[in-house]
Amino acid sequence: MWLPCGCTSKAIVTSSACPVFKSYFRVFGRWKCNVAAFMPEAAGFEGVKDFSSLQEFSVSNSESFWAAAARSRLSWIRPFHTVQHCDLSRGKIKWFEGGQLNVSVNCLDRHVHTSPERVALIWERDEPGSEVKVTYRELLETTCRLGNLLRRRGVKKGDCVTIYMPPCPLAVASMLACARIGAAHNVVFAGFSAEALAERIRDAESSTVITVNQGVRAGKVTELKRTVDAAVQDCPTVQQVLVAMRTENPVAMTAKDVDMEEEMLKEDVVCEPAAMNSEDVLFLLYTSGSTGKPKGVVHTQAGYLLYAALTHRYVFSYQDGDVFGCVADIGWITGHSYSVYGPLANGGTTVLFESTPIYPDPGRYWEMVQRLKINQFYGAPTAIRLLLKYGDQWVQKYDRSTLKTLGSVGEPINTEAWEWYYRVVGDGRCPVVDTWWQTETGGICITPRPSDPDAEIVPGMAMRPFFGIKPILMDTKGKVVTSNPASGALCIAKPWPGMARSIHNNHQRFIETYCQPHPGYFFTGDGAYRSKEGYYQITGRLDDVINVSGHRIGTAEIEDVVNQCNAVAESAVIGYSHDIKGQGVYAFVVLKKGVDDQEADLSQQLNIMVSKKIAKYACPDFIQFVQRLPKTRSGKIMRRVLRKVVERDLNGLGDLSTLDDPSTVQEIIQGHRELF
Ligand code: PRX
Repeated sequence: MWLPCGCTSKAIVTSSACPVFKSYFRVFGRWKCNVAAFMPEAAGFEGVKDFSSLQEFSVSNSESFWAAAARSRLSWIRPFHTVQHCDLSRGKIKWFEGGQLNVSVNCLDRHVHTSPERVALIWERDEPGSEVKVTYRELLETTCRLGNLLRRRGVKKGDCVTIYMPPCPLAVASMLACARIGAAHNVVFAGFSAEALAERIRDAESSTVITVNQGVRAGKVTELKRTVDAAVQDCPTVQQVLVAMRTENPVAMTAKDVDMEEEMLKEDVVCEPAAMNSEDVLFLLYTSGSTGKPKGVVHTQAGYLLYAALTHRYVFSYQDGDVFGCVADIGWITGHSYSVYGPLANGGTTVLFESTPIYPDPGRYWEMVQRLKINQFYGAPTAIRLLLKYGDQWVQKYDRSTLKTLGSVGEPINTEAWEWYYRVVGDGRCPVVDTWWQTETGGICITPRPSDPDAEIVPGMAMRPFFGIKPILMDTKGKVVTSNPASGALCIAKPWPGMARSIHNNHQRFIETYCQPHPGYFFTGDGAYRSKEGYYQITGRLDDVINVSGHRIGTAEIEDVVNQCNAVAESAVIGYSHDIKGQGVYAFVVLKKGVDDQEADLSQQLNIMVSKKIAKYACPDFIQFVQRLPKTRSGKIMRRVLRKVVERDLNGLGDLSTLDDPSTVQEIIQGHRELF
């Protein structure tokens, strides 16, 4: 096993013996042995002397832990009277009841009081060197103007506004303006198609959509407003579309469209914040499940904000004055929690990245790190894998001495990528935090830090639970595994403030998906391995959700689109291991009888359909036309067999006796060979 300290050994050696780790000690050494200096609230926690006792305390005395954190880290309009009121088995999760606050005040006003000219956002636009800095004062003013505009145009507390924008200050102001007036937001990733957007607008019942005329990414212009035009045609609830100008190119405006920036100029820079209950909805964010349509995961005000702030501060060792560079799109939960809410709640400076890792060349990230003096860089393994193939020179050209922590998120990071990230990007100086979490968890749950600055980090392992998190593994019989090492279904044994509260309009689905599989525990849908030292490694999804370039997608969603093609009788989509993307999409397609299988044309047609109905990233890399799919006698597709064929693990096909007709497997193997 390769170790972060650069030693090669089969055994895990303790990092404190390693000179490289001593440098962590220098950077973070002031926290060691003084846990109260690290987290001031800890001074009031009995028996807490070090990191591990703080973690234990946060789990066994979770009420005291979270109450202290909520009182000291958030500004309340009215204090809460009950810390938590949760029953996981019934899907009932309530934190900080009785309390009232405003999230935008927590993210803006309180920092404007102390440091109005501090930079809140650095908008790293597509063209390198054209960044725009926005201070806390400016962001508050913009948010207030927009909040007033939304109010004037009839948006009320409890409404849900859909935001279809690339990362930019106006997108952040839109999120915060919703929070200011008590509306929920529903940010839809601007790479989604018109149909996918329409589906989300309809489910969220939005009457207002906010967008930009065009997007700019990797030198190319995308017609975002045109996508919104197409979407709203199928959305009877939409009454108005607020359009901001990202480029100077005019777009056709319809009767529903409002020139957002022009209207904002008419508004006051002061906007009365709504007093929100802790458990009022802050936002919906749609994500994929193993069955059915994407679900609108519900996050609420106080608990989410506190958890985003605390994880941002401690997982990345964020210090006041640091520049935090999360390169995720704001359309995903990573963008919500670590480009927007976590950093802003902490009064930080956060980067909004509009471009791609290889535009204009593969040095983009590191040139940006040098130019913006980024201290914490947070990105996805898929980009790291892509960049390492271009070679070290693209990294070494640039000064990365400002970097202190490197983060990874969204999918497993393989050892080669981890090593390159640590050694080449971080020059062997910066801890790599492989952070495991989900849209549903609201923030990071398993991560190498916080822990003692000299505690070891094993490449490819998410390692340790964050404060308040108690992970457990379930065996196939539904029993908690207590021994180590062990593998099992990853569940979380206690509620935490950042967790999702529901699925919009479908609380029953929330209960069935997360609470019922293992009653009394939150079921994550992931499998995990726990080493003999108690460190966690995520082994992948246990359901039919796949992860393509860090984007989560249900295979059922892709099948649904493929099956809509007139020529298709049925299909089975599976994920397969892909060098760069982590997982790729492989579709087995059965055509209707009598259909002329002009395969090239049909493959192209299916790809266009998937890209039109979902997004480009969901398009199959391979489509194999087959006569039949392997099915059990009860008619269930045996995906396990398909996966093995694609992985070319023919010895691992397993028991085929339950198949209705085992000869299908041979046909499929033959077809797969012909495809390659
Ligand atoms: O399978 C896990 C994987 O991404 C899923 C969550 O996807 P999403 O809700 O889109 O959120 C992504 C950003 C938090 C998880 O169920 N995943 C996330 N982080 C990791 C990971 N798999 C392995 N290692 C990780 N660090």
